[in-house]
Amino acid sequence: MDAIAILDFGSQYAQLIARRVREAQVYCELFPWDAPAEQVLALQPKGFILSGGPRSVYEPNAPFIPPYVLESGRPILGICYGMQALAHALGGQVDASAAREYGMAEVETISPNPLLTEPRLTVWMSHGDRITRLPAGFHVLARSANSPIAAMADLERRYFGVQFHPEVQHTRGGREILRRFAVEICGARPEWTPASIIEESIQRVRRQVGSERVLAAVSGGVDSSVAATLVHRAVGDQLVALFVDTGLLRLGEAEQVIRTLRRQMGMELIAVDARQEFLDALRGVTDPEQKRKIVGEKFIRIFEAQARSLGSPRFLVQGTIYPDVVESSAPERQKAARIKTHHNVGGLPPDMHFELVEPLRYLFKDEVRAVGEALGLPPEMVWRQPFPGPGLTVRCLGEITAERLETLRQADAIFLEELSAAGLLGKGSPLAQAFAVLLPVRSVGVMGDQRTYQEVIALRAVTTEDFMTADWARLPYEVLARVANRIVNEVQGVNRVVYDITSKPPATIEWE
Ligand code: XMP
Repeated sequence: MDAIAILDFGSQYAQLIARRVREAQVYCELFPWDAPAEQVLALQPKGFILSGGPRSVYEPNAPFIPPYVLESGRPILGICYGMQALAHALGGQVDASAAREYGMAEVETISPNPLLTEPRLTVWMSHGDRITRLPAGFHVLARSANSPIAAMADLERRYFGVQFHPEVQHTRGGREILRRFAVEICGARPEWTPASIIEESIQRVRRQVGSERVLAAVSGGVDSSVAATLVHRAVGDQLVALFVDTGLLRLGEAEQVIRTLRRQMGMELIAVDARQEFLDALRGVTDPEQKRKIVGEKFIRIFEAQARSLGSPRFLVQGTIYPDVVESSAPERQKAARIKTHHNVGGLPPDMHFELVEPLRYLFKDEVRAVGEALGLPPEMVWRQPFPGPGLTVRCLGEITAERLETLRQADAIFLEELSAAGLLGKGSPLAQAFAVLLPVRSVGVMGDQRTYQEVIALRAVTTEDFMTADWARLPYEVLARVANRIVNEVQGVNRVVYDITSKPPATIEWE
């Protein structure tokens, strides 16, 4: 498949560049700028995109364009630092400009070219340094009030540079620019579609596992469901899926996972009813970290016992996705990755050895969803919001009992139902997560002539890009009113509903 290689010079937007190119249906991969040449060239890239970065080209040990890129004869698009590095490498001059240019800018195209076909563009700029002398063979394509060289090119060698960021949403028509570079300038065929992704994954999985047995643990989450379904397409009943019903999922979810994968997808699925076991293990525990630990350990023990009883299959399916892969290979982003891993429950015991089958390893989340849809998984599963591994334990504050879990599940279902009725859930939803939390607090209320003394439900709904920061969603008052009204009327044991209006930071998304 035709591909583009993106070299990451430390940009916070590197993954966005990759996503935009993939949206143009061109396959691409992201590499650290100093990745071994063989690794990058193995992709046989039709062209290179050089990302932005926080450094200055004259700094000691500044990242530079590896020689194999310039020697390849392939088109190059340098973005921001990538453009400066290109100018620097080819004999141009880069200087620190007096004023940093940050924010929106109007760019005017002054020379016809295949990359910037619009006469004017509104773009996002974020740079200190700028190019003051072009390398030989280059000319100016576009300028802005602050950047006399907002874009440059050597059309003969098909080298392009843009000072602005076409990958960010604020740059109007930025997607088109990246598409034109990949498809028209590099000549990469736009063949990266859900159908081709599925076909390619199936071939890869078949080559990897041959006729061996494969085990998949499914949680009901998007990644594990899509991964298991793909592997099932590839190897059919060599796959056995394992679903542990912890009793900690939302209303109706366990039944849905079993029904969909077993009946609709025809998978061999072992469903272990471990609800009582989890309740017993969690009895009397209120500390959040303790809850997480107990759920993680219990899960692993059950998984281990099942795997053994299945004769310990050689292969295990894992729903690793591309952002997990690139984040763990880029040192400057390892801090962010570490923050995420503390959320991942448990790990396999050291004496359990599996070879991993990772059919989603090269996919972004939106691609996983598109593949899930193409495989025929129901929209509720494909568009499911992220759900914490320890499940409702961390949303049921205080002690976990069957009754309190049921109260929480009912309230949560009403909240989701009303959001859905208001068109605020599912595909294209602005809400990243929305859920109910049961507080271990009683408050006084009045119902009819009766005084009540019952627990409180807190509603949480957030918008976020990356889950590292989040804002509370400005839900319509009418929706909140309907939800609160229904919860106190329909859910036993709840007489008060509050809405959480804290952002992250300083609060977290979950309450525990
Ligand atoms: P916080 O609450 O830290 O959540 O703002 C950020 C994201 O992580 C999810 N989360 C978890 N996921 N195990 C998980 O698998 C956990 O223990 C856990 N705690 C929080 C949370 O739902 C949100 O998407």
